[in-house]
Amino acid sequence: MNDTRLSLLTPSGHLTLGNYLGALRPMAAAQDAATCFYGISDLHAMTTTHDPARLRALTGEFRTLVLAAGIDPGRATVFQQSRVPAHTELAYLLECTTYVGELNRMIQFKEKRRTAGGVISGTRTSLYTYPVLMAADILLYRPTHVPVGDDQRQHVELARDVAQRFNLAYGPVFTVPEITVPPVGARLMDLADPARKMSKSAEADAAGVVRLLDDPDLVRRKIARAVTDSDTGPAAVRFDRTAKPGVSNLLELVAACTGTTVEDAAEGVPTYGALKKVATDAVLAVLEPLQRRYAELAADPGQVEEVFEAGSARCREVTAPVLAAARAAIGL
Ligand code: ADP
Ligand code: NA
Repeated sequence: MNDTRLSLLTPSGHLTLGNYLGALRPMAAAQDAATCFYGISDLHAMTTTHDPARLRALTGEFRTLVLAAGIDPGRATVFQQSRVPAHTELAYLLECTTYVGELNRMIQFKEKRRTAGGVISGTRTSLYTYPVLMAADILLYRPTHVPVGDDQRQHVELARDVAQRFNLAYGPVFTVPEITVPPVGARLMDLADPARKMSKSAEADAAGVVRLLDDPDLVRRKIARAVTDSDTGPAAVRFDRTAKPGVSNLLELVAACTGTTVEDAAEGVPTYGALKKVATDAVLAVLEPLQRRYAELAADPGQVEEVFEAGSARCREVTAPVLAAARAAIGL
């Protein structure tokens, strides 16, 4: 199979166990099945209020965690979006192919924009044009398929529309990718509020968010305080997302970390205390080797940066012909 796979991670907060199970681990698993481009989308981290020093530090942490998670620069190209200027350059050409009405319809923009007195205010232009940069991110690598979860589906549909329109108006430059549904992985919920997804964008001290670099004692405390319910019956530990969201989330956590099913995870676990012990062990067994590798890599940040610079250089080469074709077609 010679499929191209592109994944981006935005350095908008410290990476979580959800990001590992839902993104980093599958990215590492896909390395040999596809031609992979794995990027840190630092430009996407600037669409809302940001602190420059924090962005730089988070980007460095992401670089190191990507490698610590087993992504191998010999088998996947790792890069930093801002080091591949074709992304922003193509985004401008695509802005000349996208209608304001299309961006106005983007649900994520409607949710994230800020208003004062009913008027949009204090909202960055880059939040508005974000889907166009994302279209450029995708189209530059000519993937034939884009696996996409519900939250990004509308943006990838826009990328398809824009690519089709560009091709029709100026010539066949872009591959129009098919949207595929990614295999259902665990969607980890916040341990303190199982109605909410565990997210790196949560407040820094969020009690229900396990970060990949949390020390083991902090992980133990967070899991110990995870919300369950007041059910004390003999079958209290069972999977039921609706009736028992907290317990179900812990079972999914165990299943995802150990590679079993939620039913197997509940087997022989009589109490919530026992479940939390199993969950803690499962999470630490995943985090300990990751953190050990992180510490080794972090001892030589220059080396990690070089790996990403080499990958970014490769992306500059790979994307150059696509950008050149788009420039020529549009009249530059
Ligand atoms: P976040 O909400 O943490 O900022 P993003 O929406 O930027 O995460 O998603 C980055 C990647 O991590 C995506 O591939 C997404 O599917 C995965 N991911 C994010 N949160 C979770 C979660 N709670 N459980 C599983 N996967 C997740
Ligand atoms: Na991803």
